[in-house]
Parts: sequence; structure tokens; C-alpha cells
Amino acid sequence: STTDLPDGGGADFLVVANRLPVDLERLPDGTERWKHSPGGLVSALEPFLRAHSGAWVGWPGVPDVEVDKFADDGIWLHPVTLTSDEVRDYYEGFSNATLWPLYHDVVATPVFDRGWWDAYVRVNQRFAQACAQIAAPGAVVWVQDYQLQLVPAMLRDLRPDLRIGFFLHIPFPPTELFMQLPWRAEIIRGLLGADLVGFHRPGGAQNYLWLARRLIGLEPSRGAVGVRTRPGVVQVGDRSVRVGAFPISIDSSGLDTTARSREVIQRARQIRADLGNPRKIILGVDRLDYTKGIDLRLYALQELLEEGRVDPSEVVMVQLATPSRERVEHYQRMRGEIEQVVSRINGEFARVGRPVVHYLHQSINRKELVAFFSAADVMLVTPVRDGMNLVCKEYVACRHDLGGALVLSEFAGAAAELTSAFLVNPHDLDGVKNAMHAALTLDPAEGRRRMRALRRQVLTHDVDRWARSFLDALAPANQESLTQT
Ligand code: ADP
Ligand code: F6P
Repeated sequence: STTDLPDGGGADFLVVANRLPVDLERLPDGTERWKHSPGGLVSALEPFLRAHSGAWVGWPGVPDVEVDKFADDGIWLHPVTLTSDEVRDYYEGFSNATLWPLYHDVVATPVFDRGWWDAYVRVNQRFAQACAQIAAPGAVVWVQDYQLQLVPAMLRDLRPDLRIGFFLHIPFPPTELFMQLPWRAEIIRGLLGADLVGFHRPGGAQNYLWLARRLIGLEPSRGAVGVRTRPGVVQVGDRSVRVGAFPISIDSSGLDTTARSREVIQRARQIRADLGNPRKIILGVDRLDYTKGIDLRLYALQELLEEGRVDPSEVVMVQLATPSRERVEHYQRMRGEIEQVVSRINGEFARVGRPVVHYLHQSINRKELVAFFSAADVMLVTPVRDGMNLVCKEYVACRHDLGGALVLSEFAGAAAELTSAFLVNPHDLDGVKNAMHAALTLDPAEGRRRMRALRRQVLTHDVDRWARSFLDALAPANQESLTQT
């Protein structure tokens, strides 16, 4: 598919994200190969970009590699090099030990380190320069996520001709928490370089507008921001910056089709058999991240087993956890805790050849994942804070049989859309236990009713609709009509 691409010079549509959609993997024997990158951003944007052909600027996932641009299945990939110090200070440090916990309600304590900030500025500048070189005159550049919040303003300085969008894939925090950040004004100013700043939820957009007033002294519009409609506006000199809410989604019909394939249906049956044909299969699928509440769903299961409300001879739980940010201390601590409670549960309640919790610290391929979703009777998605959470939407898209039950945290962005799930407050362990129990003992007709409602939402609000609504709002021609939709 590389042959039908032009040579990649002068891209009209450019996505820039911390990571490329593929990561370079160095195998022990010294060989290298590209593999699918982890995380929701890539899951969402990759199918869209492959269908619409564009270019993607990002880091190849390992330090100190210099790779030339290359074409991959319909997209030009432009690797940006990070040194190992930059991986430590910009990626593991400022992005994932400062911004990540700060933006997720300080569920872990953010570290404010001036050296990390300097690296963040330097790396953002490098990404901006890469985009400035690649983008065709008047091109659309879509900057992604918290790792690159300074890029919009830096890029506008270099290339005022570009149309620049920014989308934040994680929550934007309450203003009181954001105000802790020593570099708060710089971040707000960095984002103001965009023509459109997008968040998952109207609340995030509203918080940002408040901060533009408070920290920069601008006069943002005051009306309530809607979902995909009524963006806020901030006048910055002679430019208007729009600020809106665009809840992200998944390739719903693609997953639906995969889930209906004979191969996946057979594999789902095989998974159930491999697990010993239990009456109920519970599933968790996450990056191994302390925001995902993997620990608390395990504690809930442990108590249900101890109280005899769940029978270990009838119920099996599978937890798939993609390795993530493994050198960051909070991630190491959370991994230790999860592995301890898994072995405690199995120590108490397993029999030989029949563990109660199957824990895989691995990333699995797409089809296999769909088979797991198809096999699972109860899906547990219990983050203490999550911008959107795509896993819950993927589960729903895979359940054309209207089977299964979704337990979903109120603190995931998706909860605003998936109101027919069993919604739980993840801080309320009894509430989580009751929801798990209700999902395990759900009347099938009631289950179908709930799943039908969930599917209606997920199948009509897919990633294509998300991207189109964002890009329409970014296009200058649609500026006026958009406010009326
Ligand atoms: P985040 O972006 O924080 O990782 P999301 O729920 O939005 O969270 O997206 C996670 C993505 O990663 C989903 O597409 C999900 O299917 C995928 N994923 C999570 N865990 C695994 C795993 N163990 N194996 C394969 N894919 C996974
Ligand atoms: O939106 C969540 C996100 O942080 C993405 O930006 C990122 O690509 C994904 O999760 C995975 O995290 P990481 O790139 O740090 O492995």
C-alpha cells in the first residue's frame, strides 16, 4: 500500500501525537520490528487516519533512534527522536509524573520538577519544528493530548498559515487543581495557539475558558458549552479560538463486524472452554495504570468471594493488563499491589488447574481481544478517573448478541453516554460489589434491554463522527454554521 502514496512532502492533513501508531521493538537477538502502540489515542485515530490518508508525526517509542519517514498502510509516519534523558524527563517525568496525575484529580501526587519542565518545552519545540517542515501551505494540523500542549502556540509562531486543532484525550482538571501547576499560564497560552481546542466533556472546556480569563486576562464567551455544539470562543488579538466538547469514540462497525466473524465466535467459545466452562466470566481490560481502578475491582471480588456471594467454582475473572510506563514509580507500586491481591485471591479460592483470577500482564491482538469481549458475561470498567475510556465502548460494540453486562465507573467520561450500564462510584466498595453481584445475577431480558440501549449509543456515535465533528468545527468555512447546529 506504500505505492499509492505521494512522496509525503507537504502534507495537507497532519496528526501530531507523542507516539506514532506503531512502536519500534528491539528484540533480544538484536533485530527490530514495529508493533501496534498501546492506548486509546492510537485505537481511535489510527482507523480514521488510515481511511483518510494523512501524515502522522510522533515518537517511535524507544530512545535514541533516528528513523526516516516511512509509509505504512496508507499513512506517512514521521518519527521524532527523543534521547533517553528526554524520555526520562519529558515523557516519564513531566508528562506522566506531573501532568497525568494532576489531570486525573491528583489520585497520585504530582511531582513538580523544573528540569522536567525544561525538557517538556524543548521536546514540544522539536515536535512543532517537525510539523512546520512537513505541513503543506494552509494545511490542517491536529495536535493530540497532554504531552504536546505547547505545540499549538509554537507551531503558530513558525507557520501562521496553518489551521491548528488541539484535542485533549485525558480529563481537563478542576480549576483548583490546575492552579497548582507552576507553569499553568504557559500551558493555557500554549493551547491558545490553536484555532480549536477540544475536550471530551463540556466541563473541561468550561474549566479551560475560566483559566483563560483568570490566568491570561482574556474575555471568553460565557454561555454553556454543549456536546459537539455551542463551542466557547476566546478572542486572542485578531484571532478567535474556539473551545468545545467532542466525546471520542471507536470504530464501532469495524468491531461489530469482527465480533460477528465465525473465527471470533469460535475463539470466544474456546476461551470459555479453556477457562473450564464457568457459569460466568468476568473481564477487565486496561493499560496497567493506577487510574484504572484494577485494584479496587479485585478487592471487590475478594470480598464477594469471602462473603460467599460469589462461588469460586462458578465464576472466573480474567484481567488483561497492558504493560505501561513501567519505569514510573507509581506504576511499579500499583503493579505490585495488583499482583499481590491476584495471588491472594488465588491462594484462598483456587483449585489446582482452576485459578479464580487469570491475570495476563500482556498486550493481546485485536481479534483475540474481541473474542475475550464476546466471551465475557460481566465487563468491569472501574477507573477512579478517565477522560473517556474506550474499552467499555469496545465491549458494547462487540455484543451483537445483546449478551453481557457492563459495570462502569461514573468517573469515566463514557458514563455520560453509557447510562444503561451498571454505573458505580469506584470509591464506594460496597456499591461496586453490589453492582458486580447484580451484573452476575442479571435477568437475561433486562440484560438485553440494557445492551440494546448501549449499542444504540455506541453504533451511532463512532470515531468517524467524532473526528468529523472536530474537523468541521476546525474548518474556517463552517465557523458560522457550527454555532447553530
Ligand atoms: P487509555 O487510553 O488510557 O489506555 P482507553 O480505554 O481509552 O484507555 O483505551 C485503551 C485501548 O487499549 C483500548 O483500545 C483497548 O482495547 C486497548 N487495550 C487495553 N488493554 C489491552 C490489552 N491487554 N491488550 C490489547 N489491547 C488493550
Ligand atoms: O490518552 C491516553 C494516553 O496517554 C495517550 O496519550 C497515550 O498514547 C496512551 O494513553 C498510552 O500511553 P503511553 O503512550 O504513555 O504508553
